[in-house]
Amino acid sequence: MPGCRPSIPTRRRQAAFREKVAGASALLVSCPEYAHGIPGAFKNALDWLVGDGRFAGMPVALWNGSPRSVHAPAQLREVLSTMAARIVDPACVTIPVQSGAGVADLLANRAVAGELAAALGRLVEAARVRAEDTAGR
Ligand SMILES: Cc1cc2nc3c(=O)[nH]c(=O)nc-3n(C[C@H](O)[C@H](O)[C@H](O)COP(=O)(O)O)c2cc1C
Repeated sequence: MPGCRPSIPTRRRQAAFREKVAGASALLVSCPEYAHGIPGAFKNALDWLVGDGRFAGMPVALWNGSPRSVHAPAQLREVLSTMAARIVDPACVTIPVQSGAGVADLLANRAVAGELAAALGRLVEAARVRAEDTAGR
């Protein structure tokens, strides 16, 4: 996506991204850390969502694949909270992912699979509560 500049007209790609996010019940963010920060391309994508009222209250879980990475998760919390997302703490996990490991490798570890399933369940519950709140308004 092009660098976020509110003054340029929104093109199809940014609009499609906004629609996709707005239509989600919840977001699961798993983002690497680059030079002690959020990778620029990912931050740019988030910047395109700033000001979209439909993002307010969006339940978000942060899944961190590296215990070494502490700066990007803290920055993601700050940025997403500023954007009025709701960080669902019980759905956030840090799991050490070995380089080159795939989904099957992760799920082969019962403790890891259990932790991810529990975290996912908590995110789904937060999404359900949000949907009920929205319907009740
Ligand atoms: C440009 C660059 C900068 C990185 N900086 C950090 C860093 O500051 N802290 C960290 O824990 N990992 C850092 N990493 C490692 C990444 O967070 C990630 O663990 C690694 O790229 C493996 O992820 P992948 O398998 O998705 O590529 C960096 C990687 C790249 C490519």
